[in-house]
Amino acid sequence: MCGIFGIITNQDIEIGKLALEGIKRLEYRGYDSCGIVSQHEGKLHVKKDAGKINAINKKLGLDDLPGKIALAHTRWATHGAPTKINSHPHFDCSEKIAVVHNGIIENFLELKERLISKGHVFKSDTDTEVIPHLIEEYEKRGLNFQEAVFEALRQCEGGYGAAICHADCPDKIIVVRKESPLVIGIEDGKTTYCASDIPAFLPHTRKHYVLGDDELAVLRPGEVDFYDIKTKTLIEKSPKTIDWSVDAAEKGGYDHFMLKEIFEQPQALKRTLSIPLESLRSFAESLITAKTIYITAAGTSFYASLAGKFIISKFLGIHIQEIECSEFQTQLSDCLEKNSVIIALSQSGETIDTIEAIRWAKESADATILSITNVVGSSITRYSDHTIITRAGPEIGVAATKTYTAQVLTLAMIGLEIARIKNLESSEDIKSYKKALNEVPNIIEKFLNHNIEHIKKIMKGLEKIKFKKIKKLGNKDLGKKLNNKHNFFFLARGISIATAKEGGLKMKEVACRFIEGYSAAHAKHGPISLVRGGFPIIFIAPPDDTYTRLIGNVAEFKARGGKIISLVVESDETISEMSDITIRIPQPADRFHNLFSPITFIPALQLLAYYAALDAHLDPDQPRNLAKTVTVH
Ligand code: F6R
Repeated sequence: MCGIFGIITNQDIEIGKLALEGIKRLEYRGYDSCGIVSQHEGKLHVKKDAGKINAINKKLGLDDLPGKIALAHTRWATHGAPTKINSHPHFDCSEKIAVVHNGIIENFLELKERLISKGHVFKSDTDTEVIPHLIEEYEKRGLNFQEAVFEALRQCEGGYGAAICHADCPDKIIVVRKESPLVIGIEDGKTTYCASDIPAFLPHTRKHYVLGDDELAVLRPGEVDFYDIKTKTLIEKSPKTIDWSVDAAEKGGYDHFMLKEIFEQPQALKRTLSIPLESLRSFAESLITAKTIYITAAGTSFYASLAGKFIISKFLGIHIQEIECSEFQTQLSDCLEKNSVIIALSQSGETIDTIEAIRWAKESADATILSITNVVGSSITRYSDHTIITRAGPEIGVAATKTYTAQVLTLAMIGLEIARIKNLESSEDIKSYKKALNEVPNIIEKFLNHNIEHIKKIMKGLEKIKFKKIKKLGNKDLGKKLNNKHNFFFLARGISIATAKEGGLKMKEVACRFIEGYSAAHAKHGPISLVRGGFPIIFIAPPDDTYTRLIGNVAEFKARGGKIISLVVESDETISEMSDITIRIPQPADRFHNLFSPITFIPALQLLAYYAALDAHLDPDQPRNLAKTVTVH
């Protein structure tokens, strides 16, 4: 939800160029308009417009701005259409104060009316614009820049991560935060950065601070001071060092971040496997002693929770109830038991609905919060009793891929730790499950190394081929055929329903196709009426306990003229024999590996979605209407 970037330096550098590079690395957060302002010789210089960053740069030369201070913004519109006038930065009446903002000022209408009555003139429809006018108002009353920011922010309700610069203050940028993420990067004595996310300044420095809620920071070249907004007192903070590599936040020869991140999964999962045992143990112990357990998340993280709760429940012997984070409070308002345990998943750690759900559970029922996130220091970590970081590395593609598999793997590791503590399975079994889990990255690596052309062909040109001939021709060109069909299903049973749903979400998200992931058994109760000759159905069919019944479901859909595409293990015979097309996952057909099939089977569907997007001439890294981190309700 909007990316902000700021830089202040004493070095001789091209400030516009650096600011441009900074917001480009944040474009996954929103891409409907952008702008940059720099401060030079007592004046603010601004360039902004609606559209994507590259197009605006071509038109306006965003990289060509003077000075040693710059603020930049890439927008995902909330208040006000994505137009030039609504794009950030926003200014006060005298155009001396510039603000870039991520979040929502909830009481902006009331503030705006008050300011208008005092003679302020607003140009945009945004909530953000009240901030510079409020600061201007307090300056008129004799406060200096920093004091005016303190007072202005005290009037604002809602969430903000904002950076502010002033034409008359060449020595500082002021940044503030409440709920919306903000990190500060430091090159000692030289340059200070602020951004919505670390990758924005990762090429320059790994040393950073996380700004907390209700905190204000004054950035000077290579220095920063922190204050509590409520008390205006100085706060001591220690810097942290991020171990992400710069390459991790670059495309590195891939056409898109999404493809790169799909291919990074084996390495990412190897890192996830090295999560320290103590972290897993604290989660496992909290779950073993719990009476009531919920798991909550949004989007892809929610589907990871569907797969993961299945694995944990198996070893724990307690049902875990999944509830989408946005429904959490509504559904449990009268019945959340005291001391419940809540597992919350969020790759960004900033999804506002997830954070609200756990905050409410903590406050109203003293729940124990166990969170799993990919981002060190993210908001979710502050509201949690225990946190595990998934170690997937930065994920820039808007569609979550490697963070999904890392989340399911983390939950599986917790499940195995529970099994070990409870001595539930015979130790030989636990060993076999562990061995199977450790093999997951290699299975995915083998699949990706040998199937990319196969999947690519699946998503290309099948429309030219009559469906009947497909089996003979191999899997060539299925994709175009799929693209030609408006609807199809991903169907599965048991744990694989999570895979079907996540596959469907990826298709909706990046290929803008309404592909539904559904229970194969439940599909008989209505959705089967969509099936007619040639209707494609992708069955996710690992040979687990549900396999025999899934054969029946495949037969039901085949009998009605459905074209069957199946995801099966290498040694599969029955469902593959019934299928027009198969995608084979190179994993053994035993119960130990089957339990982790949500991790090993999903890369095939991620790739299908990726190539479906390319075939539809869509940019998989920047899906329509989406932003990676949803910090509004
Ligand atoms: C899907 C996707 C979104 C996120 C959802 C939750 O590819 O990226 O559906 O999964 O917005 O985000 P996090 O996990 O950051 O809480």
